[in-house]
Amino acid sequence: MGFVSLQNISKTFGNKFNALDNVSLEVDKGEFFVLLGPSGSGKTTLIRCIAGLETVDDGRISIGDRVITDFPAGERNVAMVFQNYALYPFLTVYDNLAFPLKARGRLKRTLWAESLANGTSPTTGFGYSLGLNPIKRSEVKRHIRERIDRVAEMLQITDILERKPGQISGGQRQRVALGRALIREANVYLMDEPLSNLDAKLRSSTRVELKNLQKKLGITVIYVTHDQIEAMTMGDRIGVINKGHLIQIGKPLDVYNMPDNLFVASFLGDPPINQVDGKVSEKDKSKITFGGFDLKLPGKPDLSGVSGKTLKLAIRPEDVELGDHGASARVLFVRSIGRTHYISVVLQETEEMITKVTTEETGVTEGTDVLVMPNLSHLDVFEKDSEELVWSAKRNH
Ligand SMILES: Nc1ncnc2c1ncn2[C@@H]1O[C@H](COP(=O)(O)OP(=O)(O)OP(=O)(O)O)[C@@H](O)[C@H]1O
Ligand SMILES: [Mg+2]
Repeated sequence: MGFVSLQNISKTFGNKFNALDNVSLEVDKGEFFVLLGPSGSGKTTLIRCIAGLETVDDGRISIGDRVITDFPAGERNVAMVFQNYALYPFLTVYDNLAFPLKARGRLKRTLWAESLANGTSPTTGFGYSLGLNPIKRSEVKRHIRERIDRVAEMLQITDILERKPGQISGGQRQRVALGRALIREANVYLMDEPLSNLDAKLRSSTRVELKNLQKKLGITVIYVTHDQIEAMTMGDRIGVINKGHLIQIGKPLDVYNMPDNLFVASFLGDPPINQVDGKVSEKDKSKITFGGFDLKLPGKPDLSGVSGKTLKLAIRPEDVELGDHGASARVLFVRSIGRTHYISVVLQETEEMITKVTTEETGVTEGTDVLVMPNLSHLDVFEKDSEELVWSAKRNH
């Protein structure tokens, strides 16, 4: 069982709509787990259930060896960065960061436990009530200062510590909110789109810093995003969620390369995966016809089970081949961004568009005719209606 364990979690709002439907998930200690899904898919609801801010209708949640399904939020020891974060407007950034440490004497308790473990004399409020020397106030202050400095440096907010939230930018406020969660000692850190307000450059550097800090501290993070780049670059594993269903869980590249269904295939990748209509060939049930071309699949699979159904050939832009055989197409446009070339072609028979991405010089020019083929070692075929996988080069061979 994972460190954070969700078993068959369901949640309904207004007893008709399933925001979460039978979600099970195991997250390891020290793991950076990314929950990826479109707007309204249930991401926030799921982490609010873990935090205890929503009750679940069904299922069981545990952290470590404690079943916490019915624990109040305050007793779960989780830190959360909210999607709609709010800072205390009347406190400086520094005091906003210090607040979770001062609240309920958390830092004092930690220091006291640490000093006991180290064999030195216990010294906080507890120690005092036990007749022992209390930790000096100045020592607690120094610890707070050290922690804040470390987190502020990582988030590049050191120079705004003395300002109030009203005097800093939206992106800076978001980083303070992130800092306020990281500063605490918690079993699990739940982060709801914590970088969404940052500009592209800051976002990418904060991504790296956050990931490094997480690794260094060994903390367990469940991170919510709808941004697949964020998921691919930060997650040890990702879970793709849609309409309250957790559809696929795995390492980012495994999910990218071996999607379980069409939704996952289309949600990961930029530019998005090409989806081309196909049908099992009437003459040969191991072939698929697309764009007027009969495509021979390796291993001669028997596709008679989906004969007559509309299929979708899912082809990554990097797996589109323009060569001497395949479906006839016309080159619509060629664009280059730096050394990456984007070539869009339109199939002559069906007028479907296919985009190819390559860093190689192809010599292809706009308006010319070409033949298009998928790279057969990376092709996935799905059934259009059920979105289920019908044939996959990686899995069938
Ligand atoms: N308190 C609520 N009452 C009724 N419906 C709700 C409530 N909270 C969420 N929902 C619904 O549950 C579904 C899941 O919402 P949720 O906020 O978890 O989505 P999300 O994946 O976080 O989306 P986003 O990326 O837009 O933040 C949505 O359809 C939403 O409208
Ligand atoms: Mg949300």
